[in-house]
Parts: sequence; C-alpha cells; structure tokens
Amino acid sequence: MTIKGCIFDLDGVVVDTAKYHYLAWKRLANELGFEFTEKDNERLKGVSRMKSLEILLEIGNMNFDEEIKEKLAEKKNNWYVEYISKMDESEILPGVKEFITNLKKNGIKIALGSVSKNAGIILENTNLKKYFDAIIDGNKVTKAKPDPEVFLKAAEELGLEPYECIVFEDAVAGIEAAKNANMRVIGVGSDEILKDSDKVISGFEGIDLSILEF
Ligand code: BG6
Ligand code: MG
Repeated sequence: MTIKGCIFDLDGVVVDTAKYHYLAWKRLANELGFEFTEKDNERLKGVSRMKSLEILLEIGNMNFDEEIKEKLAEKKNNWYVEYISKMDESEILPGVKEFITNLKKNGIKIALGSVSKNAGIILENTNLKKYFDAIIDGNKVTKAKPDPEVFLKAAEELGLEPYECIVFEDAVAGIEAAKNANMRVIGVGSDEILKDSDKVISGFEGIDLSILEF
C-alpha cells in the first residue's frame, strides 16, 4: 500500500502548544480552587474546548450551568490566546519542517487535522500555512476527536482515500479518531501513553520517509 497523504495534528505534534493549553486549564482549575496535574491533562489532549471543560470540572468535582460554563471556557481561551499570540517560528517542534519538506519533495500531500479553533493564529504566527495542502481545524468540524470527522474531512480535501493517509498524533483521543477513520497512526510522544498507535516516535528529528513503511 502506498501512502499518498500525511495528516498532522497541530497542538503537541507540529508546535509545542500543548503546554499552553495545560497552563491555561491549570490556571482555571487553581482559580476554582483545585489542582490539575499533567497526568490529568492527558485526558484533555485532542478534545474540544467545551468537552475539555467538562472533564476538568469532573476532576474538580464541580458543576455549573451552561452560561457559567461558556464564561469559564472563554476565560481559559483568553489566557490561551494571550500565550499563543507571542509565538513565533522558534516554537515549531524540532525536525517538523524538515520532515514535511521531505514529504512534499516526494509528492506526498500534507493536511492539518486539528479540532482547535485557534489553529489559524498559530499557523500564521509560525509561518507554517504554506506547507499545508488542506487545513481542517475546529471551525470546519462539529465533532471532536475521537470522532473521525476531522481526519476524514482532511483526506477528502486532499482527494485521497482514508487508507492512503497516515495520521501523526500526540493525543490518546486522536489515535482513537485515526483508527475510527481507518487510517494508520503514528504516535508522537511517549510509548506508554500512545500504545494504541501503529508506531510511536518521540519527535521528528532524524525521521525519514521509511517511517511511512509498514
Ligand atoms: C486540540 C488540543 O488540538 O484543540 C486540545 O489538543 C484543545 O487540548 C482543542 O482543547 C481545542 O482547542 P481550542 O484552541 O479550540 O480551544
Ligand atoms: Mg495534539
């Protein structure tokens, strides 16, 4: 089987923004009076903003009505946007640009598959937009990972079948989403956390096209 397209998650795969999501949620948790650990944060990765808030409140044993939840999510997002507005190219993860450039040289199409509504600002600030043949972000999907919608839309926009695509993901929910889309998935991060992916890499430094062979 030949791989014709690679779909990249954004936060935690292409750029180091997973830390900013964590910092902003932690700040909200602390303001509400409870602790929020990095281990808890794994459950939020790849998950939409409102679903993330639900999980956070469950951890803190709290509940609010919809109106307050909207306000809390907005508060978290304002802090997050403040963090990412200072970003530049130096926050692109090591080896990512080289790997994507190599893929493009070899005729492989590139898509972004993120549920973040802030993907546009990040791609703009890091000057990465030009690398992508298709961009699917939180403004184009209605269902968050582990639903496969984001990856199926990315394949469709590339003009490819799901089985012709490989997904790169750092989130447990994202790996499940890729599997639900019938795509191969390479985990980016820790072996232990991403054990359900087809392969795991710790990052893109030194990674060549042989990673696409199964
Ligand atoms: C995903 C992140 O990429 O985007 C999640 O992994 C985040 O942590 C989600 O909640 C939604 O992001 P945003 O920027 O729309 O709040
Ligand atoms: Mg991610």
